[in-house]
Amino acid sequence: MTSTPELGPVAYHRGEFTDARAAQLPLTTQGLHYGTGVFEGIRAHLLDSGDLAVFRLGDHLDRLLAGARLLRVDTGATRDQLTDVVVELLRRNGFAADVYLRPLAYKLGLLPGTRPGVGLTGVSDALSIVVSKLGDYQPPQGIRCLISSWRRPARSAVPVRAKITGGYVNNALALDEARCSGYDDAILLDDRGLVAEATTANVFAVRDGVLVTPPATGDRLPGITRDTVLTLAADLGIDRVESELDSADLLQADELFLTGTGCGVSPVVEIAGRPVGTGRPGPVGAALRETYDQTIRGRRPDTRGWLTTVALAEALR
Ligand SMILES: Cc1ncc(COP(=O)(O)O)c(C=O)c1O
Repeated sequence: MTSTPELGPVAYHRGEFTDARAAQLPLTTQGLHYGTGVFEGIRAHLLDSGDLAVFRLGDHLDRLLAGARLLRVDTGATRDQLTDVVVELLRRNGFAADVYLRPLAYKLGLLPGTRPGVGLTGVSDALSIVVSKLGDYQPPQGIRCLISSWRRPARSAVPVRAKITGGYVNNALALDEARCSGYDDAILLDDRGLVAEATTANVFAVRDGVLVTPPATGDRLPGITRDTVLTLAADLGIDRVESELDSADLLQADELFLTGTGCGVSPVVEIAGRPVGTGRPGPVGAALRETYDQTIRGRRPDTRGWLTTVALAEALR
């Protein structure tokens, strides 16, 4: 298990491949001051062949570009061009290991003649992508979650269908509260007191053999891993329903797990000081975790075109 990711030597920064450690930004960068940026978390895994496979790259780029449009950030690149950039970046970094890609599109600096302020027009844009070596970071034996005292902002206040940098202050406060209280992660409720999501993951419960996750339409990021897990659950013939959950549902669940690009399918074995089910990862989550891992590593047929294979140089394989 890796805790501190190793930054790859090459970044893509403002239209060029460059030394990741030397790349710089002005102190006046608007995205830094106002949270006017949008990012993605994407993973690529080492295949048995020795090549890398990026998981659902097109879906991640679509979400990034849609978020960028919302913030009036012109990335200067199409989805196809960004696909080529990601493939080339992985080749140049040459990690023959599982990696994490972090594209970030953001507002940069005021254009001449623009009045200062929290504006989205009259401000230049930029896109950067870094790569880190990152294996599994959540323990397979499960994590412990707090139900946060912080509420997830409503989608009417902060858009939820994109990973907007400014919105993550909420997630940071919730994770900080959880860690300071001795937990691994936090589950946030929405304004109505219903389960929104974890700090960087969606929430699934299992009750009487039925998989339950809140609908993609609420105050939560509709995760790509969430969609993958629902699809794989259908493949495995697991009964599933998209329905709101409340705190009592969490406390009464037979199984709980989180899903996200970073954490994969991550069992929750304790919630708010109580064991979940037996206090150990349950069978439904375990089956989905196993199937998910095989899928992202190309050990099941890629019938849905989810994998973008990147051939690494022969010397690296
Ligand atoms: C707030 C939040 N919810 C859910 C997720 C899971 O999304 P995905 O499965 O697309 O990675 C993330 C991912 O980072 C996230 O930041």
